[in-house]
Amino acid sequence: MNSELRELRLAHPRPEQLMALGQRLRRQHSSEQAIWLLQQLEMYWDAMRLQAFRQPLELYYEAQALQMGSRWPLAERRALELAQRYPELRLLEIGAGIGGDSLELSRTRSFRAVEQDEVRRGYLEHNLRVCGFAEVDVLGGDGLEQVADAQVIYADPARRNAKGRQWHDLMPNPADLWNLALPCCLKLSPGLDESQLPAGCDLDYVSHLGVCKEATVWTPGRGRVRACLYRENDWLMAERREAPLLGPLEPGMWLHEPDPAAIRAQVWEPLQGWRIDETLALLATPSGTVSAWTQAFEVLEIADADRKNLIRLQKKWDFQPLEIKKRGFDVEPEELRRKLPRGDGGGAGVLYLTRVGGRHRAVICRRV
Ligand SMILES: C[S@@+](CC[C@H](N)C(=O)[O-])C[C@H]1O[C@@H](n2cnc3c(N)ncnc32)[C@H](O)[C@@H]1O
Repeated sequence: MNSELRELRLAHPRPEQLMALGQRLRRQHSSEQAIWLLQQLEMYWDAMRLQAFRQPLELYYEAQALQMGSRWPLAERRALELAQRYPELRLLEIGAGIGGDSLELSRTRSFRAVEQDEVRRGYLEHNLRVCGFAEVDVLGGDGLEQVADAQVIYADPARRNAKGRQWHDLMPNPADLWNLALPCCLKLSPGLDESQLPAGCDLDYVSHLGVCKEATVWTPGRGRVRACLYRENDWLMAERREAPLLGPLEPGMWLHEPDPAAIRAQVWEPLQGWRIDETLALLATPSGTVSAWTQAFEVLEIADADRKNLIRLQKKWDFQPLEIKKRGFDVEPEELRRKLPRGDGGGAGVLYLTRVGGRHRAVICRRV
């Protein structure tokens, strides 16, 4: 089955209609096997799209575990930091899923992994084996009962349901892990409530492909909060600092919209920037201030944001395509777009609806 799955994925590397392929597989296999192969093929396409694994070709996937799993560059960074912080200590990974983190940890150290779900555990063992890490000790059962000779813990708890936002909605419960009083690294949702974290922990907000994917909590720590941004084999990092002062936004300046991890971590990059509204993370700078942390927009005009004025502005600037963005402004961009005239000769432009100094404003700009 293994080599057949490999051949199938090589022959069908990108999403396509499965009807004809399904019929062929059903002629060659039991219907159960054919369904498994097709599901594995589709999940491989997902894994490729999500950049979930470094070597996705021969892995076995399970739908939920794949969606919950770490993206490999993020798992790699965490594994390297674990190796740097605790090079000598015996590591236990509790709740390894199908191996998003285990495969990267394997590259840096020896460790034990526990996964309570039997199917995922079988797939985890397979995935470790085909990637050359068969020596990792994989255990079943409840990881919290297998901490006896662990010296450092890594866990990426699963949400019990889509709505849960409390620690006890997570499996394993982070509070139970912190109560072990061992050094611990936890991958949690970036939407966490910082006031609920152990005092003095280190906290990394991490983004991947423009989305803040996770918050990594290190205990014990020194109370450091960082934003970590992955860009093509490279990491940008910056630490939390005091919010900069408020200042004006005027035509000719650049308006900066920070990466979501930078917003959560409050790193306030670029350092030369000032805030344009005390409720927002948007910054302004003189023109020409480039930052890898932000998308920048050259401000052309700032005006009232009532409907009549927005129509007038779009007639004047004639943007096509017109991008509508909003921050701290209650508007439905697609609904608004239908009410504005379609532009023609003005080129690409941005209508940025936001607050400036406490007032709702329409900021006309172009992407830098
Ligand atoms: C979010 S997934 C882990 C994903 C993994 N880090 C990856 O990147 O592929 C969490 C896993 O923890 C397992 N789990 C939850 N509580 C556990 C416990 N007490 N002991 C062992 N496994 C547990 C769940 O079955 C689930 O597969």
